[in-house]
Amino acid sequence: MEGRPGRAAVVVLVSGTGTLLQALLDAATDPAVPFRVAGVVTDRPDAGGLDRARATGVPTAVVAPKDFPDRAAWDDGVARAVRVFAPRLVVLAGFMRILGAAYLAEFGDRTVNTHPALLPSFPGAHGVRDALAHGVKVTGTSVILVDAGTDTGPIVAQRAVEVRDDDDEASLHERIKVVERELLVDVVSRMTAHGWQVTDRKVRLA
Ligand code: GAR
Repeated sequence: MEGRPGRAAVVVLVSGTGTLLQALLDAATDPAVPFRVAGVVTDRPDAGGLDRARATGVPTAVVAPKDFPDRAAWDDGVARAVRVFAPRLVVLAGFMRILGAAYLAEFGDRTVNTHPALLPSFPGAHGVRDALAHGVKVTGTSVILVDAGTDTGPIVAQRAVEVRDDDDEASLHERIKVVERELLVDVVSRMTAHGWQVTDRKVRLA
């Protein structure tokens, strides 16, 4: 899993089943892909993403809030866990917590989050459910740079997904995730290969 020396180290943060993580792990098996997954960090000891990482021999760390006296200490713990892998890019792939000041001070310039809606519409933990409840005809997925807000950072890339009349939250989320996996692999490849620039919230991938 080490790959060739030039490949950029990427750390992935997950809270759930980790199918997006799996897409990154799968992509990185191709030596031509410019990144390798150097480590996986989770807030949940039962996250399915942990098994996916272990199955590929990628080191993991669990940083569970209950093991820390307060939020700031937990946040510091996440930064410490990520630092070990010296990442060029950190990817929040289904990571369901807001990162705080200590983390952002160190990694805020190189952390992206993927979200199952077309931001700035429907931020937060229930992007698919909220879009469906609003009755939108088109939703999608967004990859954004992380800032101190909830899904408020500059948009790196987006793709649209049509809503069908008979969709429920599960069916729509599954169709979004198919697109999301592809978009995430593409964005992470481009960001690690060539870098990016941000001017007045506008992100340009080189
Ligand atoms: C993805 O759809 C991701 O956008 C979402 O969780 C799912 C994780 O799927 N994240 C958020 O909603 C963050 N606000 P996975 O566990 O199968 O990779």
